[in-house]
Order: sequence, then C-alpha cells, then structure tokens
Amino acid sequence: MIDKIKEQISEVNAFTADSLDAIETFRIKYLGKKGILNDFFAEFKNVPNEQKKEFGQTINELKQAATLKVETLKEVLENSQSTEQVYGDLTRPGNPIVLGSRHPISIVKNQIIDIFSRIGFNVSEGPEIEDDWHNFTALNLPEYHPARDMQDTFFVQTNPDILLRTHTSSVQVRYMENNKPPIRTISPGRVYRNEAISARSHCFFHQVEGLYIDKDVSFADLKQTLQYFTTELFGKSKIRLRPSYFPFTEPSAEVDVYWGLETEADYRITKGTGWLEIGGCGMVDPNVLTNCGIDPNKYSGFAFGVGIDRIAMLLHQITDIRLMSENDVRFLEQFKSAL
Ligand code: DAH
Repeated sequence: MIDKIKEQISEVNAFTADSLDAIETFRIKYLGKKGILNDFFAEFKNVPNEQKKEFGQTINELKQAATLKVETLKEVLENSQSTEQVYGDLTRPGNPIVLGSRHPISIVKNQIIDIFSRIGFNVSEGPEIEDDWHNFTALNLPEYHPARDMQDTFFVQTNPDILLRTHTSSVQVRYMENNKPPIRTISPGRVYRNEAISARSHCFFHQVEGLYIDKDVSFADLKQTLQYFTTELFGKSKIRLRPSYFPFTEPSAEVDVYWGLETEADYRITKGTGWLEIGGCGMVDPNVLTNCGIDPNKYSGFAFGVGIDRIAMLLHQITDIRLMSENDVRFLEQFKSAL
C-alpha cells in the first residue's frame, strides 16, 4: 500500500499542465472530496498498527506534493500569461457611465441664487409644513383677513394651525426673527395651493423670495435690484412696476418685464402686450417688521417673490407645468447640457 502511495507521489511530481482547466482536473483528482488522497485516508483503519506511522507520513507527503504542485503550476501559468490573457483587452471601450441631468427647476433656481449672490444676498430656507403665524399672521394677514382667501390653503386636518406654506414669504418672517439687519437674503422653495391642476397651474410649485432690510432702503433700491435681476436672467432690462396690493408690503407692485413682440412666441407669451408678469414686490410693511422684532423707525426694506416654474417654462420652452413633476426621463434628459 505504501508503495502505491509512493508511486502516486512520483506521478504527482512528474505532472505538468499548461492550462487552468488541466490544473483544476489534477487538483480534483488528488485533493478533491472523492480524490485519491481521501481514498488512501479511508484505508488507514485497515493498515496494521506497526505500519500506521509510516503510512500516515507517506500520505501527508502525497498531500503536500499535490498541493505544492497545484500552487506552482498556477503560478507558472499566471506568470507566463500576457496581461491580455489575465485582464482581457485593456483597450476596449469601458462601460458607458450614465450621467443624470439637473431638473429645469434646479437649473433656474441655481441661476437665480448665483445672480443674487453676486450682489451680496445669501440663501435661506424654511419648512414646507408651516404654522399660521409664519405663513399668515406675522405677514399682516390676521385671522379672518379677506386676503387669506387669495391663497387656497392646504390645512393639516387635525390642526388648523398647521398648513402647507402657500408662499415662501414665510421664510422672510423666520429670517427676520432670527437675524438682525442688515439682511440680504433669498429663499427658494416649494409652495402649495389648493388649485385645479392644468397646463398652466399646479397644486405645488416653486418661488424665490427676496428680502433686503437695512437703514434707508428705498423703493428706488428695489427697482434697481429687480432690473439687475431681469437683465442678468433674461437679458432684458426694461421693467415696469404696476401698483398692486399685498398685505405684507406697502406700497406693493406687480413686476412686469418687457419681453418684446418680435416673434410669434412673444405674442403668445405676453398675450400680445409685450409685457410679462414675473412676480410681486413692495416695501416691507412696518407691521411685518414689528411682528418680527425689527424696529420700523430704524429700518426699512423691500421684499419680492417670483415664481420659478413659470420662469423655467419660459427659458426652456416648456409648455405644460405638469411635466415638471412627472419624472419622465424623456423630458428630464433634455436638460443634460445645462448646469
Ligand atoms: N407671496 C406673494 C405670493 O405668493 C408674492 C410676493 C409679493 C412676495 C410681494 C413678496 C412681495 O415678498 O413683496 O403671491
């Protein structure tokens, strides 16, 4: 029996192979579960006691020889293979990396942030689930104020004090409560209104609120700032401030940009007038300043609010606001090149 094992040892030592398959077959033949080595181990109990030691040692020799053979053959094979055999063709094109694209709302929001940061405005944010104080009362819209009806509000049913903010003006209040003048901040964010959904309006959309509070801020500063904004964003510097009413500003105005009437699209966009409304603005009402802990005798300021969705639709020729929230990749992919 021992001679048989020794025979196997010489066979193992003499073995050569030039492929991984052949080495694997060899490994299984000797070291596998049903391999030669285990067959010999199974014989162990039948070997007379005085031979057991030598038998055991010889089997171990066989095992070591086989293991070493597998290892060395593999190593030799690996060293002899070219990088191409080991790694494949390194010049072949890689798997394409699919890059996402920014949402048009984000693109326009970032443009607006960029424009205002150049004149010293920072960015502030507030919660979308708001309380009555920040969305209405502090903004000079006390309970039962008729102007509350202008904004169809989603209330949280269990608590009439909690609602989905109807405008980003709520962030004005929060910012003034927590910061001292001079204040120069813009607050982009999503707002909600209980409105019928159509191609032109949705029950949620996006606004940017602007707020500037300091000593001696005037209406002229407001107009200059808005003019700078429209020039930077649209390349259009002619604006018009139409008297209007908002409870939180006095005086208040609607902001129109002169879009022109050069193309048929201009006629459509401006309803034949050449003018396009982009938002509201005004001088912050002294009551609002007081509500937020700022002395209206010392400070004054202006505020404005513009809709991001409308602007994004305008700049990117999007004809239906619902596309903004449908997550259709065929729509989203069209904004690949924009930042
Ligand atoms: N909050 C107003 C709205 O959603 C927009 C607005 C108008 C904001 C005038 C202002 C402002 O800050 O001064 O309709």
